[in-house]
Amino acid sequence: MNIGSKRITRREALKFGALAGGSLLLPIGLERRGYAKGADDSPVTKPFTLDFKRLPVLKPVKSTNTPGSNGEQDFEGTDYYVITQRPGRQQIIPGYTSTIWGYNGTFPGPTIKQRKGRQAVVRHINNLPKDPRDGKPSLFTVHLHGMASLPQYDGYAEDLTAPGQYKDYYYPNDRAATLWYHDHAIGKTAYHVYQGLAAMYLVVDDYEQSLPLPKGDRDVTLFLHDKWFNNAGQPVYDDLGQTHIMGDVITVNGVAWPKMKVAQGRYRFRMVNGSISRSYRLGLSTGDPIYVIGTDAGLKQKAAPTTGEFRVGMAERYDFIIDFSKYKDGSQIVLQNLDLPINIEYDNTNLVMRFDVDASLNNASPPESDPTRLTNMLAGNEIIRAVTPIQDLISQSKRTRKWQFARNGGEWTINGKIWDKDRVDANPGLGDVETWEIYNSGGGWFHPVHIHLLDQQIISRNGKPPSEYEKGWKDVFYAGPNESIRVVGKYGPHPGRYMMHCHNTVHEDFDMMTQFEVGQGGDDLINAAPPKPVPAGISNPTQYAPAFPA
Ligand code: C2O
Ligand code: CU
Ligand code: CU
Repeated sequence: MNIGSKRITRREALKFGALAGGSLLLPIGLERRGYAKGADDSPVTKPFTLDFKRLPVLKPVKSTNTPGSNGEQDFEGTDYYVITQRPGRQQIIPGYTSTIWGYNGTFPGPTIKQRKGRQAVVRHINNLPKDPRDGKPSLFTVHLHGMASLPQYDGYAEDLTAPGQYKDYYYPNDRAATLWYHDHAIGKTAYHVYQGLAAMYLVVDDYEQSLPLPKGDRDVTLFLHDKWFNNAGQPVYDDLGQTHIMGDVITVNGVAWPKMKVAQGRYRFRMVNGSISRSYRLGLSTGDPIYVIGTDAGLKQKAAPTTGEFRVGMAERYDFIIDFSKYKDGSQIVLQNLDLPINIEYDNTNLVMRFDVDASLNNASPPESDPTRLTNMLAGNEIIRAVTPIQDLISQSKRTRKWQFARNGGEWTINGKIWDKDRVDANPGLGDVETWEIYNSGGGWFHPVHIHLLDQQIISRNGKPPSEYEKGWKDVFYAGPNESIRVVGKYGPHPGRYMMHCHNTVHEDFDMMTQFEVGQGGDDLINAAPPKPVPAGISNPTQYAPAFPA
């Protein structure tokens, strides 16, 4: 599909991007452009040729039932995991094997699934190659996005682990939610995530499992990410003058435009937008609703049916239900990416994946036909997580801060400033409730703004109530062109310094990032848990790694 009248090739886009990087905004009018197939295109002809891939769940190398406390949170026991960050090869587009970097060499990496109340310790070992762009060693830091980790385990951008080193990350898993973990290295986050250093992380609890939601093989994780490939089928990284990367191939769970067989029943999808710069507006080809049941930080109080207003910025997670029970055997239903401003659309970027209804799968798990279950499936959810009514948070709010996200003098800035690890731009007291106003006053870009550490709720968007689907606990706030958002949250549970940034990771790397400090006396970001060397003489670090704790 070509949108708009201007058709350009990728080579022209590259040239254009180089210009854009040196000057200011992409001119309006070029923001949505069609695209003519040319020699630089990814070598993919047709969507829906590859089968959907379910993401494997990582097994702990060891589990204990010794209770303890990690910072402010108690836990009943600990699960230990080992991940080696290294290159790998896999099929992403039909007919080619692509080289990626991944957690255990896969893209996306293995899913970690934890029970609420059990601590996780994840040992990350650096076996990454040099950055081919500058010949320097690749240093990582791992952020578990959505976890209230202590500062030294939050993947601070300057808290780096070099090749030949490892670092153990401790996670409290204090509430059920869909999270993801990804690289956060200063200046290299976009490159590292694009190479493949990203994966999903689920925290589940008994309450959520007791709800009448689809389970087992009908509880499915989706990792969305767009890519460009060269004609040898290898991913190409080009941030068009430090502005953005929008590929011409949409991948789900590391597979280009997959097709998935589904029974005539309801499915739960836990989705993250793991793209570098592309947002999505999701809808079904049938026009039937997608029922949103969870936001970034957990289940909602009631399901919100969407039919086209459902926007997903980078790093946002949404849990949703699609009901296939009324479709005939053999029906094909496409999950579409409806257009959004600023995104660059290519031939098939309006398509995400296809569901092929196969009644022979019904036997395995019988169809759920009771329509009231769909509206009632979250009934009672208000009792979990002491869902603080947003009015209570608003009435407790101690102060309001304003944050302007803008392209300024050729730089990506927050309140006119760029990242400085030695500067703190806000200091809420530990446990204070604050209202933060996020402004994107320009028309040329959108910025999904991520605030680390705490869960918040949206008070208003452009002065109006937020859409039903985005009501709930969140940590990423989609600031579209000329939009403003007011959010409220309680600063804690830990004191310390945490980052806030645009989750277009190209913008983040090129300095649209700042930090706030909660309370006083938080743990030292760099020195409280430094990386350690992988002992010499052990050529395969995975042989050594299971010896926990170090
Ligand atoms: Cu998902 Cu600070 O990042
Ligand atoms: Cu985060
Ligand atoms: Cu941005």
